[in-house]
Amino acid sequence: MKPSRLNACGEWVLDRFPLASLWKDHMTHYYAPKNFNFWYFFGSLALLVLVNQFLTGILLTMNYKPDAKLAFDSVEYIMRDVSWGWLVRYMHSTGASAFFIVVYLHMFRGIMYGSFKQPRELIWIFGMLIFVALMAEAFMGYLLPWGQMSYWGAQVIISLFSAIPVIGDDLSLWIRGDYVVSDATLNRFFAFHVIAVPLVLVMLVFMHIVALHEVGSNNPDGIDIKKLKDKDGIPLDGIPFHPYYSVKDIAGVGVFLIFFATIIFYMPEMGGYFLEHANFIPADSMKTPEHIAPLWYFTPFYAILRAIPDKFAGVIGMGGAIVVLFLLPWLDRNPVRSIRYRGGIYKKALALFVISFIALGYLGTQPATPVMTNIARVFTAIYFGFFLLMPIYTRWEKTKPVPERVTVELSLEEQLPALIEAFEEITELNPVSEDSSQHPAFRSVFFSRRPNAEGIRKVTTRLAKKLKESLD
Ligand code: HEM
Repeated sequence: MKPSRLNACGEWVLDRFPLASLWKDHMTHYYAPKNFNFWYFFGSLALLVLVNQFLTGILLTMNYKPDAKLAFDSVEYIMRDVSWGWLVRYMHSTGASAFFIVVYLHMFRGIMYGSFKQPRELIWIFGMLIFVALMAEAFMGYLLPWGQMSYWGAQVIISLFSAIPVIGDDLSLWIRGDYVVSDATLNRFFAFHVIAVPLVLVMLVFMHIVALHEVGSNNPDGIDIKKLKDKDGIPLDGIPFHPYYSVKDIAGVGVFLIFFATIIFYMPEMGGYFLEHANFIPADSMKTPEHIAPLWYFTPFYAILRAIPDKFAGVIGMGGAIVVLFLLPWLDRNPVRSIRYRGGIYKKALALFVISFIALGYLGTQPATPVMTNIARVFTAIYFGFFLLMPIYTRWEKTKPVPERVTVELSLEEQLPALIEAFEEITELNPVSEDSSQHPAFRSVFFSRRPNAEGIRKVTTRLAKKLKESLD
């Protein structure tokens, strides 16, 4: 097609569809804070994994049979006979675990930088709904290979509902569609896993991002960049999402794919953590596996369930562990967002929370011996303590002053002009002028305090040596 025709075609579409303004509003003229760091990779990575799950899921569905008599064999058929079937399956099973790794890190970032606080409460709520939908999606997907762990895992989890007073038995019967996990359960889980929940997920992710673009991104300093704008109304500390962050995110994707591919090609089962060994045995309703445990991403919540002696209370505890996360924007009473400027109490509480979450995750994979159960109780108490005591300790904590502008850690190259200037001054034994201490390099994290001449001399000499080495 001639370029003029192509242009005419493009204009015809643009006259009828706001593609150009959408691109402008959400990419080239969406101003994101300029100080995004490592932790800001995980939103775009979650999107990438979502797309991976959709594409590989569609391919898997082409050869999978949602029938209790055929399901296990159809997965084996995909692994052995379908061209590239093994790759598609491993991309999907590894993708499930990768999804949770990425989403847990994404959530942790939100907690660290107070991204759930006003005005981003709805972004957080949509995120939590995504998390719940993701758990439902993973749980139902895990039944589909119809292995021993698929079967017994579903049996254990669905039977938990029967602990609910009055309606419990009917509810679990209704979920299963039978008195035990059976073909009826497999069929409905397939429908939910392939159609219903993915639709919900896509809608929620869409709303999550719409809400984000309405209020704008938070940042590692937790500062509102919209407060300071230039004469054209552009935030002083903002840069256009495209090309700056679109390109940065692609670099993150590259690194992620290296890890992702390494797992797929060299350790797709990940020692039984991504694909459990017992799931390579077909489901047998007459033979209970010795040790039933869900996949790693559910184990913190599973450990909480087992730590509580009463079954119903355990179910409430497990559900409560998720409900408290929803309430985070209202539990944290401190107006300071970022961990960088928060007090020691909050930092210690967050560290304890992370330790308890990981410890519970480990304990959930282990048999529930009395000792393990007692340890799990301690960590369950810490987990809930972090949230439930939050309204109290977040009021006590002594926070640091939050800067007006975002702080940017400058690279060596960016610091060079100021370093050379300082070096020249020092070698001439001049005092540091007011001017050079105002240079952005001195406001960087590296020179966060006003340095003395001796300090500058040492640092500049060291850096100059390093620079010389790198130039040589
Ligand atoms: C399929 C899962 C998810 C996808 C695709 C997704 C996507 C994104 C994207 C693209 C961003 C903007 C980039 C960034 O800030 O990293 C973002 C921001 C955010 N997400 Fe998610 N997200 C998901 C799940 C979650 C979950 C489970 C939560 C928490 C419960 C959450 C909470 C947040 C918050 C608070 C922000 C704003 C962060 C800030 O501005 O500092 N997200 N998300």
